[in-house]
Amino acid sequence: MTVNRSKVVIVGAGNVGSTIAFNLVIAGVCDEVMLLDVNAEKARGEVLDLRHCVEYASRNIRVKTGSYADCSDADIVVITASAPRGGTIDRLEMLGATAKIVGDIVTPIMASGFNGHFIVISNPVDVMAYYVWRLSGLPKNQVIGTGTALDSARLKTLIGELMNIDPRSVQGYTMGEHGDSQMIPWSHVTVGGKSFLEIVADDRARFGEVDLEGLLSRTVRSGFEVLSRKGNTQFGIAGATVGIIKAILFDENRMIPVSTLLDGEYGESDVFCGVPAILNRTGVKEIGEFHLTPEELRRFHASADIIRQAIASLPP
Ligand code: LAC
Repeated sequence: MTVNRSKVVIVGAGNVGSTIAFNLVIAGVCDEVMLLDVNAEKARGEVLDLRHCVEYASRNIRVKTGSYADCSDADIVVITASAPRGGTIDRLEMLGATAKIVGDIVTPIMASGFNGHFIVISNPVDVMAYYVWRLSGLPKNQVIGTGTALDSARLKTLIGELMNIDPRSVQGYTMGEHGDSQMIPWSHVTVGGKSFLEIVADDRARFGEVDLEGLLSRTVRSGFEVLSRKGNTQFGIAGATVGIIKAILFDENRMIPVSTLLDGEYGESDVFCGVPAILNRTGVKEIGEFHLTPEELRRFHASADIIRQAIASLPP
């Protein structure tokens, strides 16, 4: 009898990939972490460095590099690789370049016999997650884009600061595109079980007139606030990704907003979009369907339309 070992492969050993690997090792989330990169020496360097922190981690974790063939027995493959973000490159051009890179990754991984879960981070993430789903031929529950998991954390951080409360005591999601068109269903944002809208209306002396559109745009711009100062984002997205990995490996049935294929939910289909979802060892077990107000639904559809248009420009 052999004991099953849990294995997470991370494709792309840049800031995001190596930060995810570091998190997995320190927190002892899985038994084996494998880092792959087109620059094999970079991956090897990160692996050696990570091995040196096992001594002070919570338990022994095997850290390796390898090849796409080694994905055959992986539980999860995380795709972080994307085209360089050039100031002059327009979005569709970047979409094409990233799609090429993502395609070159998914094809050999599927040839290895991989039948685990893909977690896609590469931007534009909703479009890339759709592309991975289509190329891989895997069931929809096994392909997850990080989507608005990070934007939702950013929203909770802002509300936490506004109310001087632990962001984890805020319930709420941003939905739609991981990008400018995402929306916040304010009717479902609660703090300690009470509607956020009621809390601020009940205590105008403390909160004044809360600018909801301002909170949405600050949520959307949070990534830019980081990027413009340090040149990249890594800890927030790594945290969201590790949360998704834990929900899958530990069969948590935890609700996290992720980008998943909609098949009639919210009146949308054939599009990957950020929605609250219950995650467990099957991946996306179920999509949470909230009653949105007509205005919230209008905004959600508008965001899904933007993703759908971008999907139409993917290579066949
Ligand atoms: C961000 C990247 C992951 O928003 O899109 O930080």
